[in-house]
Amino acid sequence: MNIGELLQLGANELKGIVDRPRFESELLLQSILKKERLYILINQSEPIPEFAEDIFREHLQRRRRGEPIEYILQIVGFYSREFYIDRGALIPRPETEILIDKCLEVLKDIPNPKVVEIGVGSGIISTMLATLRSDLSSLALDISPEALKIAKINIEDFNVSDRVELRESDLFSSVRDDEVFDMIISNPPYISDSEKGKLQRELDFEPDNALYGGENGDELLHQIIDLFFKRDEKYLLCEMGYDQRDSIKNYVAGRGSLEFYQDLAGHDRGFVLSKSSAFLIYS
Ligand SMILES: C[S@@+](CC[C@H](N)C(=O)[O-])C[C@H]1O[C@@H](n2cnc3c(N)ncnc32)[C@H](O)[C@@H]1O
Repeated sequence: MNIGELLQLGANELKGIVDRPRFESELLLQSILKKERLYILINQSEPIPEFAEDIFREHLQRRRRGEPIEYILQIVGFYSREFYIDRGALIPRPETEILIDKCLEVLKDIPNPKVVEIGVGSGIISTMLATLRSDLSSLALDISPEALKIAKINIEDFNVSDRVELRESDLFSSVRDDEVFDMIISNPPYISDSEKGKLQRELDFEPDNALYGGENGDELLHQIIDLFFKRDEKYLLCEMGYDQRDSIKNYVAGRGSLEFYQDLAGHDRGFVLSKSSAFLIYS
């Protein structure tokens, strides 16, 4: 078959399953042929080797079964960059870009800031922070060895492995008391376990321990808040669910200064907690 025929076959197979069947068919074929979009659009009569056609059909099947296209392409866009992604780590969400901006805002007057990230996943947060602040270093933790392997590829690819240390750790289990940072940052799993299986089909392909935070969903967030108050870091910055403001506010219960931030849709999406009561970044 040639490029044009395969593109049409892909569009037919994905019709009614994805929003943009023709576009996704193009993306899948481009990635197998390692060609730009323009190339496949103007060379439609070019024959395709059988092995490439077989891979294309297999990728179409995966997509038809609901696997996110990012896992099939092994590429995800985040903060206007392309990152490597695979099934061992959560697919980065656009709202996490706000977490990065908040972090840079809070740390703006601290020279050579040191950050510890809980739940590095694919590495997008620590990688972007180190990319955007050349004097920043971070210790990036994750309980999942599979996620750490993916993060390592991104950290090396972005040339920040000298300032981002990866470490396998259940929360702070592998962090020594004498390792002190300016900030703890985290986008932890915060969906309730009871939501499992009820959400979009694509979530079934992402690791459970990247999505579900316990019976209520906020358990890990509460553990992170407890850790923060036992340690010497000045700031805790976390992403959270849109409906977790009251849970977090009640849990913090007046300890330190707490500010919530919203996503572009105006929903609560995260918070900054500081041990100093004079802390107000948005004033
Ligand atoms: C929501 S994902 C966030 C990944 C990435 N930071 C991002 O924003 O796309 C949460 C991450 O926390 C990790 N995680 C879950 N429980 C953990 C724990 N107890 N200690 C450390 N990491 C944990 C998961 O493996 C997962 O990579």
